[in-house]
Amino acid sequence: MRVDLGNALAGVAEPGVSRAALDDLDERVADAHERIERGRADAERGYAALNLPETVDPDEIRRAVEPFADAEAIVTVGIGGSALGAATLASALPAETPAYFLDNVDPEHVSRLLDDLPLDATAVNVVSRSGTTAETLANFLAVREAMADAGVDWTDRTFVTTGEEGNLRRLAEREDLPALDVPEGVPGRFSALSTVGLACAAIQGHDLDAILAGASDEGDRLAGSLYESPAYAYGATAYALEERGAGVNAMMPYAESLETFAEWFAQLWAESLGKDGRGQTPARALGATDQHSQLQLYRAGPRDKLVTLVRPEERRDRAIPETELEGLSYLGGSTLGDLLDAEFEATEASLAEAGRPTVRVEVDRVDERGLGELLYGMEAACVLYGELAEVSTFTQPAVEWGKKAARGLLGGGDFEEADAVADKTTLTVE
Ligand code: PA5
Repeated sequence: MRVDLGNALAGVAEPGVSRAALDDLDERVADAHERIERGRADAERGYAALNLPETVDPDEIRRAVEPFADAEAIVTVGIGGSALGAATLASALPAETPAYFLDNVDPEHVSRLLDDLPLDATAVNVVSRSGTTAETLANFLAVREAMADAGVDWTDRTFVTTGEEGNLRRLAEREDLPALDVPEGVPGRFSALSTVGLACAAIQGHDLDAILAGASDEGDRLAGSLYESPAYAYGATAYALEERGAGVNAMMPYAESLETFAEWFAQLWAESLGKDGRGQTPARALGATDQHSQLQLYRAGPRDKLVTLVRPEERRDRAIPETELEGLSYLGGSTLGDLLDAEFEATEASLAEAGRPTVRVEVDRVDERGLGELLYGMEAACVLYGELAEVSTFTQPAVEWGKKAARGLLGGGDFEEADAVADKTTLTVE
């Protein structure tokens, strides 16, 4: 992963960060790096995520999914960090076996998918660290029922990825389902490079070793200076810009295949850093599509944004056919990739010209290795940002609050969070 901070510097952008301020910040980056390395050495909660490229066993994952090698489709039932890593890989990498994700409990979406799937040839991976998340368990029950109704033995088609305890672990033990363990001490949103994110990729036949090698290379580049580590350069700059008023971080990849990556990034950034009044609100955009929508706001709206422009340097390309149409000869002879690259450069220049901060992030290609670099790089950037902002990066009390309130409302336990729903202030207009 390569990071170019030039357009986030004061003098180019407002808000911007000066070289002197970055040099000062670099001393804090060195201290933060030491804390991160200590956390990694002790495999402390959260920091253990940065050890995953070395601790995860791809053979174990491949062995676990072997019984599903003939699947015509794979459905991951999970939500948040239990789905988005796998979804990022699935939507970025072409595969013969289609992957679907049941995260939301929208009954129309669930019914439509279950109606369409070849249930007797579908592999189902139920993923939940806690094993207690209502959406995941409810969707799993719906899948199980649909399989039973179709005369399919769901126990032949299902495996679980979960923690040591919880409803899902008990179910796996009772039904003797194949089970993968979630990694110890790694929150869902940091678990893309583990059993949680990689099982679906393994069934789809992707190269897990290359994903982990890309991640490992990025990890090897973590160092006690932001000038030596692309991941830290990004995390430190985003932090410095938030301090200077950029409370929004718009993630804008110039690759359709990275659209879900922007969704994954939004969760990582929001759930990890949104604490104690701190954090950047992630926005999701797609180049070049959103040049024709959100770019207006990014260039001329409030000066509260960092725009992160991501692109692969190489991609499968396609020539634009020569045309006799008047005024369009400039397109013929170019490729769609040339056009997309020109759009990328133009957006970057347009934002710089208006004094709006951007950071450019590049990988060689959107392939297994490039994705490993991106996922690991953004996780390390997030961990560094959390250290600098002194927030508890690896907890998610607001998310837990909502989970308890919903379970309480459905009679799934005595949770005081559910009582707050009754206190809602209303001002109804009909
Ligand atoms: O990142 C997180 O911790 C969350 O987004 C969880 O992944 C999400 O809430 C799902 O939790 P679980 O895996 O326990 O079902």
